[in-house]
Amino acid sequence: MEDRAVTPQPQPGDNLDAALRIKRLHELYGQDTVRNNLEILIEAAQHRGESLDHILLYGPPGLGKTTIAHIVANEMEVNLKVTAGPAIERAGDLAAILTNLRKGDILFIDEIHRLGRAVEEILYPAMEDYALDFIVGKGPSARNIRLKLPRFTVVGATTRLALLTAPLRARFGAVMRFDFYDLDAIEHIIRRAAGLTAVPYTPEGVSEIAKRARGTPRVSLRLFRRVRDYAQVRAEGEITAQVARDALQLLEIDALGLDGLDRLVLQSIILKFGGGPVGLETIAASVSEESDTIMDVVEPYLLQLGFLERTPRGRVATPRAYEHLNIPYETVAIKSDQPTLFDET
Ligand SMILES: Nc1ncnc2c1ncn2[C@@H]1O[C@H](COP(=O)(O)OP(=O)(O)OP(=O)(O)O)[C@@H](O)[C@H]1O
Ligand SMILES: [Mg+2]
Repeated sequence: MEDRAVTPQPQPGDNLDAALRIKRLHELYGQDTVRNNLEILIEAAQHRGESLDHILLYGPPGLGKTTIAHIVANEMEVNLKVTAGPAIERAGDLAAILTNLRKGDILFIDEIHRLGRAVEEILYPAMEDYALDFIVGKGPSARNIRLKLPRFTVVGATTRLALLTAPLRARFGAVMRFDFYDLDAIEHIIRRAAGLTAVPYTPEGVSEIAKRARGTPRVSLRLFRRVRDYAQVRAEGEITAQVARDALQLLEIDALGLDGLDRLVLQSIILKFGGGPVGLETIAASVSEESDTIMDVVEPYLLQLGFLERTPRGRVATPRAYEHLNIPYETVAIKSDQPTLFDET
């Protein structure tokens, strides 16, 4: 599935409208807890003339973690240096980055759960004591050297908080969770995008897009862009409810924002495995996808909709999933029951 319009993960073309990017905290709509906490953190640091505490941002993809890192740098009026866990291969790579930081700078480390062990160990004293420890020389003449670093701020982002090691997590003064946005916030984001790109719309048109955006700004902006194209080519340019519905149907996105892969996963659990429980690897193999894709991209939204449950024995499709797919719950569920249950009668 190359062209998944509803995937929360970045796709080519996502950043076509640079003007849509938000740059300041007050422009951020939704994610109130994160915004309020950041406001306090930033104001307090500015008031004291200090650098910011290290901040860890976590939550599903496409909700604004990278955006927030940029916003924080703008608000603090400092430089932002961007890197990512997998990009820092050796301890020396990180040491080079750290020694180039200036006072107050923000080092944004995306996918911070993917830092290697040796790299992490450089990061501990850097975050805690603003110091870089290394050994010069070999054997008996080896010496420990400690290099002072300027006071800087790490902003870490991860979609998998559980994979972060405890010592790394402990070094963040503030840990902030991103939640899916409610419908109202998503509608606001789409209306803002339409306003900035001068696309006419009706409230119902915006609402049709928002309902399918899976509570994710990245998805809402991508769907908006696709509907805008459709409106220009196949309609009068205005995003009405009908135009939005037609455009999204062409993309095979259903009324709840599920696409072909989401439905395939549910169908597979229900029709091939009697509704579950079935293991993640088995599901992935049966739909020919990576299990990581199923776990990061498909499952979170199905869980959120209450279509899927995670049990110790595997994934189970709920009656609501059957209903959405128009599959009678009884038939399939009974077929999968153990015959021994009825043996006594
Ligand atoms: N609150 C918001 N209002 C408007 N646009 C937003 C908001 N949050 C995010 N966006 C937009 O959504 C897109 C995705 O945001 P961003 O890249 O910050 O997400 P992310 O959480 O870093 O995702 P990932 O986990 O994939 O790195 C961007 O185009 C960004 O401009
Ligand atoms: Mg990001």
